[in-house]
Amino acid sequence: MRIDIISASPQLLDSPFNHSIIKRAQKKGLVDIVIHDLRDYGLGNYKQIDDSPFGGGAGMVLMIEPIANCIDQLKSERDYDEIIYVTPDAPTLNQKTVNTLSLEKNLLILTGHYKGVDQRIRDIYMTKEISIGDYVLTGGELPAAILVDAIVRLIPGVIGDEQSALTDSFQDNLLSPPVYTRPADYKGSKVPEVLLSGNFKKIDEWREEKALEKTKSTRPDLLDE
Ligand code: ADE
Repeated sequence: MRIDIISASPQLLDSPFNHSIIKRAQKKGLVDIVIHDLRDYGLGNYKQIDDSPFGGGAGMVLMIEPIANCIDQLKSERDYDEIIYVTPDAPTLNQKTVNTLSLEKNLLILTGHYKGVDQRIRDIYMTKEISIGDYVLTGGELPAAILVDAIVRLIPGVIGDEQSALTDSFQDNLLSPPVYTRPADYKGSKVPEVLLSGNFKKIDEWREEKALEKTKSTRPDLLDE
């Protein structure tokens, strides 16, 4: 899979993609993540990328031309399955959307900044818009990093234990059951007996029961879906 990301603050994306599992996935050639600095497409000597909003109001709006030029360039090089704008005024990301996106070949993600982007960019180019939750961040870089992380970990070979991605919270609309490791007794706080029993049928039943209990108490809305 290839993921291109357009950003006005590309340095913000250095860290999330250059460590741990996502870094390893790139090294293994399982995903190619390419960051594009919007400033490279800025207008004039000052490489302008934003301007004040028509009609007045606070903040600056990312201009249409630099973004359009960048997207046109990328689209001339390959076909994109989805062109995604991460923004708080969009449908909220969930595991189902992540699963679908993880099957695509080429994704292009646009991150906003300041007061947003010129609406025409959204109208003309975007095939999908995604919010990571009902709160507002300073820009779309961290939401893009979250989206990419959630997608990339589902690519076969990225996570060592294939089983582990399938048994995540949300994959079956249930939250994960509690997990424990050594010691079995920490200052009198004991691991549930069944997990030490070696009876895997019983262990599976216990995990299912706990997952259901946890979902009922903290996210009952998931059970309605
Ligand atoms: N940009 C700023 N806040 C955001 C959010 N909640 N989701 C996606 N993009 C954003």
